[in-house]
Amino acid sequence: MLISREFNQAINVQIGREMEASLQYLSIAAYFEGRYLKKLAGLFFKQAEEENEHAMKFVKYILEAGGNLEIPALAAPKATFESAEDAVGLSLKWENDVTKYIYELVEITLKEKDYIGREFLSWFVSEQLEEVSSMDNLLGVLKQAGEKNLIMVEGYLSH
Ligand SMILES: [Fe+2]
Ligand SMILES: [Fe+2]
Repeated sequence: MLISREFNQAINVQIGREMEASLQYLSIAAYFEGRYLKKLAGLFFKQAEEENEHAMKFVKYILEAGGNLEIPALAAPKATFESAEDAVGLSLKWENDVTKYIYELVEITLKEKDYIGREFLSWFVSEQLEEVSSMDNLLGVLKQAGEKNLIMVEGYLSH
């Protein structure tokens, strides 16, 4: 077995978070669909898929390392939003929180001198740079355009 109990447990918790993120992004995609903003919706449908892939990467790691998969109960995603800025602001906050959680996982591997685990997490560390920066960028664009000009944001996203 190449995974400690503590790291195994922490990854199980993270799998739940990735799945919750996937559900949250799905719910944001539906919000944009409801407002006829297809490009924004498409972007969040894609994000939802990616979060599911993240969960699967953790699942495969646990199984390969000989650990136990225990998926925690998932919280229901937020389903209503006041504005596009509200929905994307929530996503940015989420990505910042996830970055912190990934760092906490890294800390466990360092403490345990689990270099396989540390190496595995590198991908997630780099991924968070991209996730936070792209969400931050989208929020900036939304703020500049304003709630009344979201259709211009759709045009911007088509390029
Ligand atoms: Fe993720
Ligand atoms: Fe993410």
